[in-house]
Amino acid sequence: MPVVSTDWRQQVAYQIYPRSFADSNGDGIGDLPGITAKLDYLEALGVGIVWLSPVYDSPNDDNGYDIRDYRRIMKEFGTMADFDQMLAGMKARGIRLMMDLVVNHTSDEHEWFKQARSSRDNPYHDFYIWQDPVEGREPTNWEAAFNGSAWTFNEATGEYYLHMFSKKQPDLNWENPKVRQEVYALMHFWLTKGVGGFRMDVINMISKPWQLDPTGQSLPRLPDAPVVQDGFLQPAFEMVTHGPRLMDFMHEMRREVLDHYDCITVGESPCATVEQAQAITDAETGALNMVFQFEHMDVDSQPGKGKWALKPLHLPDLKASLSHWQTALHGKGWNSLYWCNHDQPRAISRFGDDGVFRVRSGKMLATCLHMMQGTPFIYQGEELGMTNVKWHHIDAYQDIETRNMFHVAVTQKRQNPEQVMKAIHAKGRDNARTPMQWTGDAQAGFTTGQPWLAVNDNFAEVNAAQALSDEDSLFHYYRQLIALRKTWPVLIDGQFELLLPKHTTLFAYTRQMASVRLLVLCNFSSQFQGLPLKQLPDISKATPLIGNLPLEEWHLAPDTLAAWEARVYVLS
Ligand code: GLC
Ligand code: CA
Repeated sequence: MPVVSTDWRQQVAYQIYPRSFADSNGDGIGDLPGITAKLDYLEALGVGIVWLSPVYDSPNDDNGYDIRDYRRIMKEFGTMADFDQMLAGMKARGIRLMMDLVVNHTSDEHEWFKQARSSRDNPYHDFYIWQDPVEGREPTNWEAAFNGSAWTFNEATGEYYLHMFSKKQPDLNWENPKVRQEVYALMHFWLTKGVGGFRMDVINMISKPWQLDPTGQSLPRLPDAPVVQDGFLQPAFEMVTHGPRLMDFMHEMRREVLDHYDCITVGESPCATVEQAQAITDAETGALNMVFQFEHMDVDSQPGKGKWALKPLHLPDLKASLSHWQTALHGKGWNSLYWCNHDQPRAISRFGDDGVFRVRSGKMLATCLHMMQGTPFIYQGEELGMTNVKWHHIDAYQDIETRNMFHVAVTQKRQNPEQVMKAIHAKGRDNARTPMQWTGDAQAGFTTGQPWLAVNDNFAEVNAAQALSDEDSLFHYYRQLIALRKTWPVLIDGQFELLLPKHTTLFAYTRQMASVRLLVLCNFSSQFQGLPLKQLPDISKATPLIGNLPLEEWHLAPDTLAAWEARVYVLS
């Protein structure tokens, strides 16, 4: 049996959103036996790590990101025996399983919270974050991620509890050592079962900015967020990210758990700066292998107005952001690389062309990302070139964030529903959550029943069966990119240098290690692009490494890139 590779930095990860991956029993919901049945597909792609979105028992207010019991499998997904079988199948294929660890908050149906809310004297009360009303209202002006206040009143105790997400996702009180011990215990539980690491949900939000009363007369309080918009509620994420005790908690977790296993970790870190990411991922003084940062996910929204305030992409912004992360973490930490996940729209619809150039622009985006330094994460269906959906009615959408936003925008803020739907088409999370398209058969071969969320209509053309049988497909291109990472050390350790930073359609950079130097050229447009040869390294004697057009075309037009073309040269 192959063993899990220890050089994880050569590996590419693949994210599975289980509800939408493969349904084995016709109830319309993806499940663990469904995943097990598709492991050969993942092996063929060549990925070495699977990040599995949550599969724990949950009432599904936020599709499993609200956990009721960390040691049970969600009934709809199967049993612990199904889990063990899936894990064994992954191990047999040399694939490491990375579980989703959601411990900034639990479900309000978790036993701890049921106890905690029952009375102020309950031993679990201090597992969560409580504050008394201030002048009869919420203790701070914090707005929750899924709209409304981040505080909900609890009758039984006469206090408010904090929830940075929905009111069914109360935040845990990490200041309480008992909470931390419970978290470490559940991590040990999964690691001893043989899982190979964790993706940690919003982990940089666990330390809250408590303010102590210097006189010691009143209890610690949380401060208000700065006022940047009309009304009482204000965005509060920056208030709670990278809080004062975050690194203490992370170091303790490392000492108590992570250092004792062969495991890989990635911490989801909204609002993280490169300095914060360095602190978290430094091999000596940090705690995790990498973070998911969000800076490049903000380039197509209006600054400070949130993700729904659309703005056309200005390529230099994207380049500046990604290259800043490349150079700042080089030799100091480790990047994760991603275009999309279950919270983001489909990459091709967002940064490429989901019409005639769907496959070509998908290959270009993949090239652009996979030649960078860090661990690439492929989100299910990205390797097939799946695209966004445009449903006309809000009722077609299931995502709590999307539905709440629509409701508030249309009924409270009186925005034009058509405009709001436009934002949903561009940014809504259900774009990524439509069922995986396996075949051209009914329901894309995802289920024999009715899927929980509609299948994208383009499944007859866009599906895995087609992709596997077509040697020119996006799938096979990803396979090649994944393989290159294992044979070209420059991709792992080479230095990154951005070229042509101001160019509005070309994304060009080099990677260099000792005498090996690669040049990556990507055209982010549907137009031909002449290459400004004087500002680029000499390509006249360079050899092609990989690209999304046949080699004859490189030779025919050495100084021009076609629409959405990508080329990688080995410079001599
Ligand atoms: C993370 C997850 C997202 C979830 C949120 C609350 O951002 O990726 O899906 O809604 O945390 O757990
Ligand atoms: Ca099922």
